[in-house]
Amino acid sequence: MKRVLSVASEAVPLIKTGGLADVVGALPAALAGQGWEMRLMIPAYPGVLDKIGRGDVVWADPNLFGGLGELYLGKIGDVEVLALDAPHLYDRPGNPYASPLGDYWDNAERFAALCWVAAVIATNGIEGWKPEIVHAHDWQGALAPAYLKYWGNHVPTVLTIHNIAFQGRVGADKMGAMRLPADWFHPGEFEFYGDISALKAGINAAWAVTTVSPRYAEELMRPEFGEGLDGVISQRAASVYGILNGVDGALWDPENDPAIEPFSPTKLAGKAKNRKALLDEFNLDSEVEGPLAVLVSRLTPQKGIDMLPAAAEELLAAGGALCVLGSGEAWAETLLRDLTFRYPGRVGVRLGYDEALSHRMFAGGDIVLVPSRFEPCGLTQLYGLKYGCLPLVSAVGGLADTVVPATPATEAANAATGVTFHPVDALAFRQGMRHMVKLYADRKRWTAMVRRAMKSDFGWERSAATYAALYDSLIAK
Ligand code: ADP
Ligand code: GLC
Repeated sequence: MKRVLSVASEAVPLIKTGGLADVVGALPAALAGQGWEMRLMIPAYPGVLDKIGRGDVVWADPNLFGGLGELYLGKIGDVEVLALDAPHLYDRPGNPYASPLGDYWDNAERFAALCWVAAVIATNGIEGWKPEIVHAHDWQGALAPAYLKYWGNHVPTVLTIHNIAFQGRVGADKMGAMRLPADWFHPGEFEFYGDISALKAGINAAWAVTTVSPRYAEELMRPEFGEGLDGVISQRAASVYGILNGVDGALWDPENDPAIEPFSPTKLAGKAKNRKALLDEFNLDSEVEGPLAVLVSRLTPQKGIDMLPAAAEELLAAGGALCVLGSGEAWAETLLRDLTFRYPGRVGVRLGYDEALSHRMFAGGDIVLVPSRFEPCGLTQLYGLKYGCLPLVSAVGGLADTVVPATPATEAANAATGVTFHPVDALAFRQGMRHMVKLYADRKRWTAMVRRAMKSDFGWERSAATYAALYDSLIAK
């Protein structure tokens, strides 16, 4: 087996705040099928060492960015995990990036330390294991390729951008604390408008930059989506790849999911039972004639929650219902609560994070809503497809790349799997809902669409093969 070291701030089943964790957690198994042994390096937040069976200390430094750092080699399932235990940086409960008061003051150093150790391991190896590739994720992993470059180490590196809205930007006064070399502080490397940008450092240093859908790769080179880094990414266009995320079939399979009543494209009876159970669970009216829409999301401006009332009005006028599961910003939670008061018996909201409930929602829902302003890949529309819960999505990023929108052309070709809307505004979302409701009313056509969606193939195999081919091409360089 060839060897690759993955560096990230989250991974299922150890710690998750969003899709990054799903993807980082799924890649090792997917790549094993391609002949790559991927070891995962992540911070040892509280509880992580127990989950990986503690294991042995394979590396230590008494002064890792201000305190003792010890690297444990453990296992989760078949995957070898390197967990970096550094209590002064990671022994904080709850969200890995923030306390209830806001982002941690030392996030820059916290993740620089992770990247530093990854770069050391890539340089020296560990107990005879030395990676042939380093694969870093988002700004939290981005300094790993950067340190390697500044040290003159020639191990090939890949940086995957899951979301450019987060860049790890801090004041230049942190340069010393982050162990960044002052002579690389210029616009061609990690300087960004007078600050340090960890993500920019990684984009300029990595041998290849990937993002999680082909469409987002193109969007990132445009000012509307690039968040100030569009020029930097455009300059690297020849080394930028869009590789779609997959769905982990071990966790997401309607025929084999302990959280739900099982069903399949040919046996849809279970889906009707899940729908009924979901209405009950949210205390909604038991007879809902129109479609039952669901939304599972972080509640941030990215996700377009502010446009929901307009689309909900259309849905409810058509006799539908809506279930929402999410957590995040206060304004969005208020907006959602307000909807439940406005439409009692028809709109149900759960604020919080609940993995099992999310499964029941895709299984019981008819429509999954993803009205994102931008969406690098998006996973909930993929879960929706697989669970016969048809996506109504904005036509951006990975949403546009994975949903076949119902149009006269795709309907003539019997190919549609959902509805997309553009531009991303409340009017278009509402019109998309109107279209969806109309499709739902034609029961035969709808069922055919449900079956087709469930058969769409967004498993990991193709994407893992693409990553493997990329690794090989970098090694050959
Ligand atoms: P992002 O990573 O931007 O949040 P994705 O669609 O890629 O968006 O991934 C989100 C992941 O988090 C999905 O697995 C989704 O089901 C899950 N998720 C989001 N919010 C919740 C929640 N409140 N409860 C359970 N799962 C959630
Ligand atoms: C990010 C993106 C999301 C993507 C996920 C996993 O959080 O917002 O679109 O699916 O990363 O790559």
